[in-house]
Amino acid sequence: MKILICGKGGSGKSTLASLLAKNLLTKGYRVLVVDTDESNYGLSTQLGMEDPKALMDQLGGKAAILNKQLSAFNAGKPVITLNESWTIDEIPSECVTKKGDLYLMQIGKVHHFEEGCACPMGGLAKDFVCQLNLAPKDVAIIDTEAGTEHLARGVASGVDVVLMVLDPSCESIKLSEKTSAMASEAHKSVYFILNKINASLAETMLNKLGKTRVIAQIPFNQSIQQKGLTGEELETDVPEIEAIANFVIQNS
Ligand SMILES: Nc1ncnc2c1ncn2[C@@H]1O[C@H](COP(=O)(O)OP(=O)(O)OP(=O)(O)O)[C@@H](O)[C@H]1O
Ligand SMILES: [Mg+2]
Repeated sequence: MKILICGKGGSGKSTLASLLAKNLLTKGYRVLVVDTDESNYGLSTQLGMEDPKALMDQLGGKAAILNKQLSAFNAGKPVITLNESWTIDEIPSECVTKKGDLYLMQIGKVHHFEEGCACPMGGLAKDFVCQLNLAPKDVAIIDTEAGTEHLARGVASGVDVVLMVLDPSCESIKLSEKTSAMASEAHKSVYFILNKINASLAETMLNKLGKTRVIAQIPFNQSIQQKGLTGEELETDVPEIEAIANFVIQNS
């Protein structure tokens, strides 16, 4: 089962990825969290894990991948960045950090001023996610960068479920329309998780979004915010995560 998590900047995507990963571990799944966000560095901290070597660096670095992509593009061929198809055990060991049955990998991060666009990471993310071979008790949770770039790149084409995290903002509601429209082009449904809300904010959001695709409402949680500030591992008990985990299991 492959689950993609998306939403606007700061809405709580990486928080949900971390909490959902830990819940699925308790259900006996082996969980691979795939960090496809080229700009943010918080996910490994939230999981309480070390950063692995990025897959892009393992494959020769950004320039090498970009050259490969450009050569294919200029030759009018499909831009395939990664030919290999891997199971979780076949991912190069340097590219994974492990904690029990929890695995973390990163596609690639931006490091330098004027290093150029993130096309190499986007193409690699799509190919890796689409070609990842999972066993029945394996789950991949793909944490994406803010906005819709991952949809433009086609990363969602390789997943079973798309979860969008919405914080209480007009921007999240607008983005939900665009995300739904783009995902439907990939024949995917998007399910919404309201985050950092209270009863009155939830009512306003449900009036705008409708109820049918909202699968959970996570209240503003002081402990999550505090851990986000101090950089501690997220071990907070958030009861709503159980329903989200059961939903993805049933809908994959
Ligand atoms: N339910 C919640 N209650 C309180 N704070 C929250 C909640 N969910 C997330 N946060 C806090 O909001 C901030 C952003 O969360 P997170 O990093 O998960 O968002 P994101 O969508 O992954 O952001 P980015 O777009 O930068 O990757 C963090 O400081 C996190 O601790
Ligand atoms: Mg994030």
